[in-house]
Amino acid sequence: MGIGISAHRLAGTVAKFSAVGTISSVDLRRHHPDLMAQTHRSRDKKLIDSVNLIALDREIKAARTLAGGCGMLAVNVMRAVSEYASSVRQACASGIDAIVVGAGLPLDLPELTAHYPKVALIPILSDVRGIALILKKWMRKNRLPDAIVIENPRYAGGHLGAANPQEVADPHFAFPTVLEGTLELFKQLGLERERIPLIAAGGINNHQEVRELLALGASAVQLGTPFAVTKEGDAHPNFKKVLVEARPEDIVTFISNTGLPARAVRTPWLANYLDKEAKLKGIAKAKPCTMGFECLAQCGWRDGIAKAGQFCIDTQLAFAVNGDIKRGLFFRGSEELPFGNAIRSVQELMQYMLTGQRPTDLKEPSLERYLLPS
Ligand SMILES: Cc1cc2nc3c(=O)[nH]c(=O)nc-3n(C[C@H](O)[C@H](O)[C@H](O)COP(=O)(O)O)c2cc1C
Repeated sequence: MGIGISAHRLAGTVAKFSAVGTISSVDLRRHHPDLMAQTHRSRDKKLIDSVNLIALDREIKAARTLAGGCGMLAVNVMRAVSEYASSVRQACASGIDAIVVGAGLPLDLPELTAHYPKVALIPILSDVRGIALILKKWMRKNRLPDAIVIENPRYAGGHLGAANPQEVADPHFAFPTVLEGTLELFKQLGLERERIPLIAAGGINNHQEVRELLALGASAVQLGTPFAVTKEGDAHPNFKKVLVEARPEDIVTFISNTGLPARAVRTPWLANYLDKEAKLKGIAKAKPCTMGFECLAQCGWRDGIAKAGQFCIDTQLAFAVNGDIKRGLFFRGSEELPFGNAIRSVQELMQYMLTGQRPTDLKEPSLERYLLPS
C-alpha cells in the first residue's frame, strides 16, 4: 500500500508470522530522512528515481531482517507508475520473493523478470476477462502467474480495477462469480485447479468470510485496510486514526489522476477537491509535473487529461502518510474494520482472521458481517 503505508515494518512483521508481507514500491524515500534531504527541493527525475531505488533496496533488506527467515516478502509495483520496470528490476536484484502488480495489465512482467525465474509473479485483476487476457498472453511466453490476486473494486481501498466509479459494484466483480469463472477458465485452458492459487482481496474483515472464500476456491486472502491500521503499519498514527474513525458515509469513490477510480476517506482536502473537480476538469491543460519526477506514466493533472483527476497524487499521499489530516489523501476500503476503531497488532489481526479468536479484551462488534456480501 502506497505511498509508504506498507514499508518494511508492516511487511516484515506480516512475513514474521509466516504470511506474505508486501512492500509498496512507490516513493519510499519518504521513510528515509537522508534520502529526503538529498531530494527535498529537487526536480531532478533521475536523482529522485535513483534514491527511490535505494530506499526500496533498504526497505526490502530491513523487512527481511524483521521477518527472521519466516514467510515471504513481496513488492507491489503499480503498472501505472513511470518507474514500473526499474522498480521491478530493483526488487528482484534486492532478493524479493514475489512481485505483485496492479493498476494496469502487466503483460511484460515475464520478460522483465526473466533473469529471476525464482521470483513469483502475481498480477492483481478484478474480473474473469482480465484474468483470461493475462493467462493467454503469458502462456504464449511459457509463463504462468504464480498466484492471482482477485481484487473486488466494490470494497477495496486505493485504485480500483473498474472502468469508472459507477461500475465498481457490477455483479461481474463479485467473488463467487470471479472465483467460479476463473476455475472454469483454468479447465478450458487445461490448467490444473491447484496450479495457480487465487487470492481474494477487498473488504474481507472476519474469519467466517475467509472460510467462505476458501470454500469457493480461493487459496488465500489479501487484506489492505485492516493491515494499514495495525500497530506495525508504517504510516503516521493520524493516518490510522482517519481510517478507523471513518464512517460508511465518509468513504467515497472518485476518479484519480491515473484515470482509474479510487476509494478514500472524504477528508477536508478530498471534500474540497471534489467540490472543485468539474471546474478543474474544465480547465485541464498540460503543465510541468508538480513534483518534478513524473511518478505516473500518464497523469491527468500533468498531462491535462480532462477525464482523469486533476491533482498531484504524490503530494496528497505524502501528506497522508505523514499524518496531515487536512491535506492528505487517505485511501481506505469500504468495509468495517475487524477491530472497529481499535489499533491492534499484526499478530492479533492474523490470529483473528485465521482462527476467529478475537483479542480477549475486545468485545464482539454488534454488527459483524458473517455472510459474503451479495
Ligand atoms: C492505504 C491504501 C493504499 C493502497 N495502495 C495500493 C498500492 O499501492 N498498490 C496496490 O496494488 N493496491 C493498493 N491498495 C489496495 C490494497 O492492496 C488491497 O488490495 C485492498 O485495499 C483490499 O481491500 P481492503 O482494504 O478492504 O482489505 C491500497 C489500499 C489502501 C487501503
